[in-house]
Amino acid sequence: MSRVVVTGRVPETALEKLRAEHDVDDWSGPESIGREELLRRVAGADAVVSLLTERIDAELLDAAGPQLKVVANVAVGYDNIDVPACTARGIVATNTPGVLTEATADIAFGLILSATRRLGEGERLIRSGQAWKWGMFFLLGSSLQGKTLGIVGMGGIGQATARRAKAFGMEIVYQSRSEIDPRVAAELGARRLELDELLATSDIVSLHCPYGPATHHLIGAGQFAAMKDSAYLINTARGPIVDEAALVAALRDGQIAGAGLDVFEKEPSVHPGLLELDNVVLVPHLGSATVETRTAMAMLAADNALAVLSGERPPAPIA
Ligand code: DGY
Repeated sequence: MSRVVVTGRVPETALEKLRAEHDVDDWSGPESIGREELLRRVAGADAVVSLLTERIDAELLDAAGPQLKVVANVAVGYDNIDVPACTARGIVATNTPGVLTEATADIAFGLILSATRRLGEGERLIRSGQAWKWGMFFLLGSSLQGKTLGIVGMGGIGQATARRAKAFGMEIVYQSRSEIDPRVAAELGARRLELDELLATSDIVSLHCPYGPATHHLIGAGQFAAMKDSAYLINTARGPIVDEAALVAALRDGQIAGAGLDVFEKEPSVHPGLLELDNVVLVPHLGSATVETRTAMAMLAADNALAVLSGERPPAPIA
């Protein structure tokens, strides 16, 4: 029996699966586990099942000890894990791709609709108790039919967002490290562009790339200047891909029309400038937040940990 440390609350079915084979120490406090407590608990662990709120770095791996075999992140993004530090210690790092694709694309599309049709503004207006009535020019937004969606990062979530956009009559362009499957590109009618062309062409730019040194502040002042002043930025990937101060300036100065954000540069803090603006929709990192999706993520993370502990290849190793 191995020792498995789970760094935060996860669905019970995943805990049961782990408990059936191993000794499980799970953090069930209402707040995130503190760093000191985390470092103390991981000592002697053979597996760590981590949430994206916990930093898994060299210090933590050393605190765990040389018996640690696997870090199973309950997320597709793994910018919270120092993967080279894991590799250097022979620790397998895993993530949860695939199972949250549709839920995240739903939130991306929800933000597209909320931002372009001013749903947040409308909701705030009604809740404020102010008088309102239907009017020809009241809270006019922008239509999606015939507009161009530019997808930055055309992996599974980018493609799922593109499928939704196609159903709304949008044109699709994308920027990606590599060409996508030509059949998928043909089905979506999607054209690959360089980032600067995509920014200049798109009515909506939606970010779906992973976060890392190569994508830190990928979208900043220069990129906002390149976008149409009628364009919208949507981010359901990771906050620091966008220079939030530059975004505030672009939204305030009318350099772009609006934005929809599910993730933030210094999460859970939100740039105070964003809170003052009406042309940005803000939601608290809800991309994968459905019962079904979170359960599937936790089960996949449990399967990853169990496979490594049995000496097998996990279903979703981080390459
Ligand atoms: C992920 O899995 O990376 C998501 O951000 C979690 O919602």
